[in-house]
Amino acid sequence: MTAPGVTVEESDGVRHVVLDRPEKKNAITAAMYATLADALETACDAGVGAVLLGARGAAFTAGNDLRDFLDHPPADDEAPVFRFLMALARNEVPLIAAVRGAAVGIGTTLLLHCDLVYAAPTARFTVPFVDLGLVPENASSVLLPRALGRARAGAALYLGDALDAAGAYAAGMVTAVVADDELDAVALAAARAIAAKPREAVRATKRLVDHDRAEIVAAIRREGAVFRERLASGEARAAMAAFFQRGSARA
Ligand code: COA
Repeated sequence: MTAPGVTVEESDGVRHVVLDRPEKKNAITAAMYATLADALETACDAGVGAVLLGARGAAFTAGNDLRDFLDHPPADDEAPVFRFLMALARNEVPLIAAVRGAAVGIGTTLLLHCDLVYAAPTARFTVPFVDLGLVPENASSVLLPRALGRARAGAALYLGDALDAAGAYAAGMVTAVVADDELDAVALAAARAIAAKPREAVRATKRLVDHDRAEIVAAIRREGAVFRERLASGEARAAMAAFFQRGSARA
């Protein structure tokens, strides 16, 4: 199931998925979304007790690969990114994340679908969709106001304000802030602990917690239609091109 940019391993009932493209701050390509979707879609039937999502390097993820967005924008609900969003919304296995450094765009919105989130003090959560000429995705137009309150979600969504680890913990988006050198071990221990618990009770608990699944799926579809329109807009294309021009200006 491993593909360039993502590694997937399994031990002690835990499927360990690692974003592994540190040279690009773990920006997620279409091929990486496909692997991530596969890892979630097959977890339940494979008897996995918990899925742990982490990342290699100093950043969790810089979000969607902007080069991919420019060159191969997702065309429809069959695109790997939408498969991944649906897999997150429909996932039946507890999902645990370990976050250090930048969590941009989907790097933050995917956490709203996680059951436990451990963050290093360096974690920095941003959803700069508007600055990119885009709109929220992954049901974050519903889940972020629910998590932060409408007014603080407004600062994140419209102003692009970052939330740090302490702020995310205070808001309840993060289970615990953990020293960087302990982050992976703490998250793995939690995943193993869940995997060792009565499996049916865990699954039934997750189904109850996710009782609003139909609403979340509807939000993903609603946002997706607007997101695709926005991707083709002059605003979005200019903002994404500016990101790469900034890079070449620094080189
Ligand atoms: N898509 C494609 N490439 C990306 C990327 C992305 N989302 N984010 C970073 N990269 C690339 C950079 O172009 C650079 O490549 P290069 O070394 O070939 O020039 C490399 O990753 C390192 O990025 P850099 O910006 O130099 O790292 P940094 O530590 O200064 O900043 C971030 C890290 C995450 C703050 C910054 O890269 C960033 O803002 N990225 C864009 C985030 C974004 O808008 N995502 C989309 C959300 S929908």
